[in-house]
Amino acid sequence: MSTKDIKTEKKDILLKVRDLKQYFKINRHTTVKAVDGVSFDIYKGETFGLVGESGSGKSTTGRTIIRLYDATSGEIVFNGENIQGKKSTKDKKDINKKIQMIFQDPQACLNPRMTVTDIIAEGLDAHGIAKTAEERNNIVYDLLETVGLNKEHASRYPHEFSGGQRQRIGIARALAIEPELVIADEPISALDVSIQAQVVNLMNKLKKDRGLTYLFIAHDLSMVKYISDRIAVMYKGKIMELASSEELFNNPLHPYTKSLLSAIPLPDPDYEKTRVRKTYNPKEDHDYSTQKPKWVEIKKDHFIYASDNEVKKYKKELESKEKMSV
Ligand SMILES: Nc1ncnc2c1ncn2[C@@H]1O[C@H](COP(=O)(O)OP(=O)(O)O)[C@@H](O)[C@H]1O
Ligand SMILES: [Mg+2]
Repeated sequence: MSTKDIKTEKKDILLKVRDLKQYFKINRHTTVKAVDGVSFDIYKGETFGLVGESGSGKSTTGRTIIRLYDATSGEIVFNGENIQGKKSTKDKKDINKKIQMIFQDPQACLNPRMTVTDIIAEGLDAHGIAKTAEERNNIVYDLLETVGLNKEHASRYPHEFSGGQRQRIGIARALAIEPELVIADEPISALDVSIQAQVVNLMNKLKKDRGLTYLFIAHDLSMVKYISDRIAVMYKGKIMELASSEELFNNPLHPYTKSLLSAIPLPDPDYEKTRVRKTYNPKEDHDYSTQKPKWVEIKKDHFIYASDNEVKKYKKELESKEKMSV
């Protein structure tokens, strides 16, 4: 793809997810609705944050998109092409080259008997990207450097690294074949705060340089706030609210979004003194006895899962805020 294409296609949809469901049948009586009807678009070149507490279905969403699972139902369209349902080995390989995932637990996906070079070059080899052994090594060295490691690490084995370093190897491996979409599943959660910023900067640089698109998964909003163009807030298998980062932080409407926002500490002592942590209590915060919630675009590009009465209430909230800011 030329740079011109990237520019003109900036607002183009790279990934379209519609009413995606992923149910796990535990036994005859129990089904876990890990993902229960989510819809969103990811635009080319953006960082799309997916946020929610542990168990809300974020990883399952990512794993279903990358086809580790077949979806229970719903639609996944990548670059205009449906990637759900039965696929040939070749199609799966193509999808794999274009969508890569960085996992939460790098230990689980780094083969302990392979050198770092072979781990990172696995995708290069599978897709025949490096033409010579020298090129292969150079790509690996470059990747090691960009993730904060170096040449000397190339011949070592995963157990010789710290958790944080292993996470970097996982990132280097995912980025090696220059995918279009990277699904990063809490890639920085295990890292020291100083290293988190380095990795985020690296990811942002790679995004710019290579026209990458990210689905960035996190359990809180503190880092996602700074790196995402748009954010979806997930709770118990459903997306509660979706808007641009700016809109979500200026005009959060859903009580669950507000509770996540209230959990972010700020380096401002005055603010910290007055910061009140809101807890989300669905039974108290909603009355869905007569009106069921649905997915509504409450304002341009701002979506919310709400009942009709709540939509009215939220609209008033938005209006009074607008008046205040005039
Ligand atoms: N392979 C699986 N089999 C059964 N249940 C699963 C499986 N994967 C995830 N779950 C369940 O689905 C829910 C969502 O999990 P997950 O997607 O990992 O959430 P998150 O990444 O937001 O923490 C949880 O209740 C989890 O226990
Ligand atoms: Mg997870």
